[in-house]
Amino acid sequence: MPHIALPPTGTAAAWREAARACLSARLPPEAVTWSRGAEAGVLFDEGEAPPPVKAGPIRVPAAFVEMAAQVCWHRDPQRFARLYAFLWRLRLKPALMEDAADPALVALRGMEKAVRRDIHKTHAFVRFREVGERDAPRRRFAAWFEPQHLTLEPSAPFFARRFGDMDWLIATPDLTARFEGGVLRLEEGAPRPELTADDAEELWRTYFRNIFNPARANPARMLAEMPRRYWANLPEAQTIPDLLREAEGRVRAMAEAAPKEAPFYARALAARREEAAAPAPAPAGGLAGLVREIEGCRRCPLWEGATRAVAGEGPVDAALALVGEQPGDGEDLGGRPFVGPAGQLLDGVLREAGIARERTYLTNAVKHFKYTLKGRRRIHQSPSGGEIAACRPWLLAELAELRPKLVVALGATAAAALTGRGEGILKRRGRIEEGPDGLPVLLTVHPSFLLRLPDPVLRETETERFREDLVAARTWLEAQQAA
Ligand code: URA
Repeated sequence: MPHIALPPTGTAAAWREAARACLSARLPPEAVTWSRGAEAGVLFDEGEAPPPVKAGPIRVPAAFVEMAAQVCWHRDPQRFARLYAFLWRLRLKPALMEDAADPALVALRGMEKAVRRDIHKTHAFVRFREVGERDAPRRRFAAWFEPQHLTLEPSAPFFARRFGDMDWLIATPDLTARFEGGVLRLEEGAPRPELTADDAEELWRTYFRNIFNPARANPARMLAEMPRRYWANLPEAQTIPDLLREAEGRVRAMAEAAPKEAPFYARALAARREEAAAPAPAPAGGLAGLVREIEGCRRCPLWEGATRAVAGEGPVDAALALVGEQPGDGEDLGGRPFVGPAGQLLDGVLREAGIARERTYLTNAVKHFKYTLKGRRRIHQSPSGGEIAACRPWLLAELAELRPKLVVALGATAAAALTGRGEGILKRRGRIEEGPDGLPVLLTVHPSFLLRLPDPVLRETETERFREDLVAARTWLEAQQAA
């Protein structure tokens, strides 16, 4: 009986080739056995070569090819045999791929899901430590990780894209990914290396402590997001037991402190009451008329120091509106929103998330640039609650003209202007809250927050989370359109 020993790297592509050969030789599933490298104690060269391909190309549904490409990274020793047995049936009955009740397909789909989840966790939970000289031409990092499945190979290209300007190594018990001088190599697995803690670890712990909200502590959900099996290699996970233990006391202390100190959102609400007293703009001429009125705005003193007001831009029928804080230096000079460094970052992430900027309406909660002068440089300053409130009628008027299906609030100022609540954006990000006129508002961070993060690894991780929030916005809209 032929035994096919697949290589430990390039396994998925090798399985596909071997399965095609077996299928064209009409080898039934019970006539062939499979293993990956030394997994079953079989070395590659001891395996029999797959039979030569006899027939022409074999047609299988693309959904099977995609599923198989994931399932091959599962640890189940029977995965290759299960895939081949399913493929054997699929060749006569292509509709099998749609049969959600077929037990073999259910099992394979479960394995596919587990692998996808493990790849996602690998992207999120690998923590690099700096190992080279800090002033070397290329900084060097290393990480130890224990994925649940054999997912380092399909995960590694993500790190090569994200950390292309560094040299790095990710060691796992099964495989090591080494990225040097822009070239990615996969080598044998290694025992856990000695990696000493560096500043990045303390940064991760501080960051995690800061985003942990004791009032929302939900150990079951936390475990689902960050399963215990990953904790050993996550510096911030060491803080979890203490944070959970202290949560109750912190919530009590927060409640006691609350009446004495008016939180930011209470001030924002008070400012909104003031705003109600001011006459709201009543523009004629649709969005274009509104833009002209915004350009002449004198509702607060910010216009005095700014070059011009920067209104929103984008198509009137945009289904998605993005709201930022206020124009920056470049926007104030250029007269368009999001054209400076934050805008360039936003453009890139929008592209990666599959959102076309030209189909999106982009605007800001505040329409004039607020800054202080440092020499000749204009340094950004956050707008006050009163300034946000003074500008809010413009934002509401823009949204009333557009009637988008979804609004994305970029950062705390936009979130306060749209929802009236200014508390911690990091704790609310990814949620959809109710905005003006019941508009759904998805909350996320501002791209400038990402630009300010000093640690490159943290910045990459947060950029990835930002991208995921924008993907969630696109998926939400697509689901609405399909309904
Ligand atoms: N930041 C913003 O919030 N808006 C812009 O238009 C540019 C930077």
